[in-house]
Amino acid sequence: MRLTAEQKTRYARDGFLVLPNLLSTDEVAILTTETERLRHVEADGIFREGGEGQAKTMFGMHRPGQPTWSSAYQALACLPRTLGVAGQLLDDTQLYLHHCKTNMKPSIEGTVWHWHQDFGTWHIDGIAEPRLATIMVMLDQATEIGGCLYMLPGSHRAGRLDPYFDESTVYRFWATPADRVRAMMRQLPSPVAITGAPGTGVIFDCNTLHASGHNLSGHDRWQVYLCYNPCSNPPCDVEDPRPDYVCSRNWTPLEPAADNAIVESRQAVPA
Ligand code: SIN
Ligand code: MN
Repeated sequence: MRLTAEQKTRYARDGFLVLPNLLSTDEVAILTTETERLRHVEADGIFREGGEGQAKTMFGMHRPGQPTWSSAYQALACLPRTLGVAGQLLDDTQLYLHHCKTNMKPSIEGTVWHWHQDFGTWHIDGIAEPRLATIMVMLDQATEIGGCLYMLPGSHRAGRLDPYFDESTVYRFWATPADRVRAMMRQLPSPVAITGAPGTGVIFDCNTLHASGHNLSGHDRWQVYLCYNPCSNPPCDVEDPRPDYVCSRNWTPLEPAADNAIVESRQAVPA
């Protein structure tokens, strides 16, 4: 999949690019089945909340050897439509995943992610340069009432803004101070709701401000995040590093897969 010059210009200007129909209905169905299987696995890298202990966030699905490994996820990370697109926008063919994450924001109970830049955290992980990009793929319909992502167009051009550690949400993390976000919003176009059908993708820069709201709908919101980093930009050693499943210490380049690799992976799915 070759991006057009216009798509590349839009990514450089806005800090994100929506990719409609990135995955087919069959591919979404395979990944959904795999996600349902994996959410019952007991492992580090699976976070649960709520009375029934349902998994809310999981990591490491693309990595052979991880308890959460899935050949379908491994294929997803290496498609011309994912790895290839990230390579075109990062202008680098040697990429690895800083991490792979699925967020299953539960119906009614799933809560807000405050405005943040991913590089706020990833720089603290020891990564020097803001040369990462994330592809998010929707496994179901993303709606505003269902707590879809929002992007602030052009915010990546401000560079990294010093984050604060937000402990007010279930998933505690480095968020951008509200005053800084309000100041940016006064200067930039309105935030864009990233809604769409299952299989829609969006690729975004690691300094693009993004957030998501409460899921007030009757449906869970399942979204996969693939965070690509050039192998030449690995994290340096830091005190108290985060676990490997969220900050990979394996920066071997990902091997490109065939475009039908998710469908082919079905053979490898355990019964
Ligand atoms: C993220 O920004 O890492 C996750 C946000 C979300 O899933 O809503
Ligand atoms: Mn984020």
